[in-house]
Amino acid sequence: MNEHKEIIIGMFGFGVVGEGLYKILQQTPSLNARIKKSCIKHPGKKRNAPEELFTTDKDVLLFDDEINVIVEVIDDSVAAFDIVTTALKNGKAVVSASKKMIAENLEELLQLQKETGLPFLCEAAACASIPVIRNLEEYYDNDLLHSIRAVVNGSTNFILTKMFDDKLDFQDALILAQQLGYAESNPSLDVEGYDAVNKWVILLNHAYGIVEKSDKILFTGIQNIQLRDASVAKEKGFDIKLVAQAKTLLNGKVAAYVLPQFVKLDDQLAFVKNEFNGVVIESGFADRQFFYGKGAGSLATGSAVMSDISALRYDYKYEY
Ligand code: HSE
Repeated sequence: MNEHKEIIIGMFGFGVVGEGLYKILQQTPSLNARIKKSCIKHPGKKRNAPEELFTTDKDVLLFDDEINVIVEVIDDSVAAFDIVTTALKNGKAVVSASKKMIAENLEELLQLQKETGLPFLCEAAACASIPVIRNLEEYYDNDLLHSIRAVVNGSTNFILTKMFDDKLDFQDALILAQQLGYAESNPSLDVEGYDAVNKWVILLNHAYGIVEKSDKILFTGIQNIQLRDASVAKEKGFDIKLVAQAKTLLNGKVAAYVLPQFVKLDDQLAFVKNEFNGVVIESGFADRQFFYGKGAGSLATGSAVMSDISALRYDYKYEY
């Protein structure tokens, strides 16, 4: 593909992220990218796009020679894996936001990228609008990573913020996160830390080349945190955050986990509120950087998908 070539997209899913991308592409004609068809599951539903955009037949997208990029933003990780593997095997570049699917099938997906030589980009799968994957791949490629600490789940951060700053009840905060489109359709994936650890599996791969299953990483969510924990923490000068952490040990191994932690109020991660995410990277030469941005939501996540689509014009792919 080159910079001037039209990008013709077959998009699986038209939910929060898919609709976000659709709106973004309407406002970015300079990208020269358009969605030719979107494959959806429930055709009767009212959507903010012309009826003729949609189909329920996945083969209409996967076997259309004009479509050169498959965007996969669906909720079902089994169906998503089938779609992305079929697309790659059929010579199409893939952009995916499915963190669960990627974390569950990391090894197979890496293998397929090697075999096909095709790009599989997934900036939207971790930290949404924060360009952290490409920075880990490119900017830090030759640096010596000392540690990464991050808030990678917008919904739990939103819930913690609402509980601790506005004294909102856990359940009410969760309902709000669902209404705003931040939470997974099964919100226990957010609350119990599964979404965060899946994203951590992906980021560990791009940071260190580690290929690990999420059940091999110590993690828990915010399910046991109560309002009174916040008052105690605050009195002592701390906030509570669900922190994903990786630290390079002296023997070169990496210790990684996802746990709720007390963070000092002047810690950069304490500034990460609501649905925002934050990543603090420490390395030998670049020293310390703090990345901050929206970690969930329609346009924020759509923007990361758009950025991957844009990178495809230059044949960008991750190195494995
Ligand atoms: N449920 C996810 C979150 C959506 O709250 O972070 C974005 O990946």
